[in-house]
Amino acid sequence: MTLFRLDASFRVEGSHSRAVADVVEAAWTEANPGERVLRRHVGTDPIPATAWGDAVTAAYVPEDQRTPAQREAVALAATLVDELLEADALLFAVPLFNFGVSQHFKSYVDLVIADPRMGPGQTPLAGKPAELVVVRGGNYRAGTPREGWDHATPWMRRVLADVWGLDVTVTETDFTLVGVNPAMDQFKDMAAEMRAESEAVARQHGAELSRRRAEVAA
Ligand SMILES: Cc1cc2nc3c(=O)[nH]c(=O)nc-3n(C[C@H](O)[C@H](O)[C@H](O)COP(=O)(O)O)c2cc1C
Repeated sequence: MTLFRLDASFRVEGSHSRAVADVVEAAWTEANPGERVLRRHVGTDPIPATAWGDAVTAAYVPEDQRTPAQREAVALAATLVDELLEADALLFAVPLFNFGVSQHFKSYVDLVIADPRMGPGQTPLAGKPAELVVVRGGNYRAGTPREGWDHATPWMRRVLADVWGLDVTVTETDFTLVGVNPAMDQFKDMAAEMRAESEAVARQHGAELSRRRAEVAA
């Protein structure tokens, strides 16, 4: 049984997305002790920004005429897709940056889709259980001034669930900048409450990942 885990934060120390994903992973590991966790750190070991263009253009060039960069990009895309195919369950931990999709996660997704196995109409991951952990520095919940400003989570749900066909659940954590930005000190209690709630959801989703995996396999 293999859990694939992707981290998109460029931080390790103090990273909230990693901390919440750790809760999911711990619940999975409790149900699957000793099993493999396959890690891809796109925040600290980014996909080269040129890889996607190289992989896409490689498709229009006969194999023996590809540049070394095109070959490398095609090989990296294949490795990324191999990792996803090999896994029984998937965990993606992605922060919100500048109201949009993390560039590190976008580069990853683009390169995965450049592999012919993940091209239009191809859904080899269909039905696999997945958990998306989203963290945001602010608060984007219904009724807040920033409601509707998170343009990343709807896109990520669309790609993971509708394009890749994964069976996705989501844990969302708001207010991770409380305690860092003094202007947000008034929200300390609310942030602590929200964090406790999202860790409880993360624990539950981690345990469910394993149960949902068993259902797929049955
Ligand atoms: C350059 C930058 C831009 C950010 N943009 C946003 C934003 O648009 N909205 C938001 O809620 N938080 C934003 N944040 C805050 C991060 O989402 C928050 O710090 C999150 O916890 C980062 O993930 P990590 O803790 O796993 O590193 C931004 C942080 C940085 C460094």
